[in-house]
Amino acid sequence: MENHLVLEEINKEFADGSLILKDINLRLKQGTKLSILGPSGSGKTTLLRIIAGLETADSGNIFFGKKILNNCPPHKRNFGLMFQDFALFPHMNVFDNIAFGLKMKRMDRSKIKLRVEQMLVLTGLEKFESRHITELSGGERQRVALARTLAPSPCLLMLDEPLSSLDRVLRKRLLSELTLIISALNITTIFVTHDHEEAFAAGNLLIVMNEGKIEQQGTPEQLIQTPKNKWIKNFLGV
Ligand SMILES: Nc1ncnc2c1ncn2[C@@H]1O[C@H](COP(=O)(O)OP(=O)(O)OP(=O)(O)O)[C@@H](O)[C@H]1O
Ligand SMILES: [Mg+2]
Repeated sequence: MENHLVLEEINKEFADGSLILKDINLRLKQGTKLSILGPSGSGKTTLLRIIAGLETADSGNIFFGKKILNNCPPHKRNFGLMFQDFALFPHMNVFDNIAFGLKMKRMDRSKIKLRVEQMLVLTGLEKFESRHITELSGGERQRVALARTLAPSPCLLMLDEPLSSLDRVLRKRLLSELTLIISALNITTIFVTHDHEEAFAAGNLLIVMNEGKIEQQGTPEQLIQTPKNKWIKNFLGV
């Protein structure tokens, strides 16, 4: 299968001179579910923002299929990014939140309605379409955020700690709901977390980041069975 998302030698330094990402190389095939695991400050969000085009790398290349994305603006990449705080519009109802990206794309109203209805079914929110965001639980908000991200049919889905604002019990339940919805779609997905149980559950490929570098890459089994060094062993608790 053709390589789908390719990162070559990505480096990023912020204005104060601190190096945030160092020589990041990554190749993801279509349909891969990648989990990025790493402690706070290791560069996970910065890497997603670079892939999404919200931040530019100082050097290196990003390809998607045969296309080079280095100078492609975020809205032309057709990637979906779901943030930790969901970033929903509180003054809009569920339907309008999910429809937002489709209206931006100037899709016709009848098509928008159809697509939003599909998303409501996919995320089990059929009864909530006219509810306001402020009238939803944390778990329901998360599903609206996922529906909104998936509505424009992105060719890459990125989730940045999508569960971190929820309590432990809800997190466990929603992790399985989320992975179930995503695994049913043949969409390449990048799931960022600093929780190794979440990373193992959500991904069939895993990278562990530390201080801006990829420490190790492999399947969850490979990382558990053959952690490359002591740091990874401690970090994964194996
Ligand atoms: N705009 C910025 N300017 C300067 N430094 C930044 C900027 N954004 C992030 N950083 C720094 O880059 C490093 C990596 O940040 P990043 O948000 O990518 O980490 P993370 O792995 O997502 O962490 P967390 O798990 O806490 O979300 C941190 O040290 C952070 O302080
Ligand atoms: Mg982050």
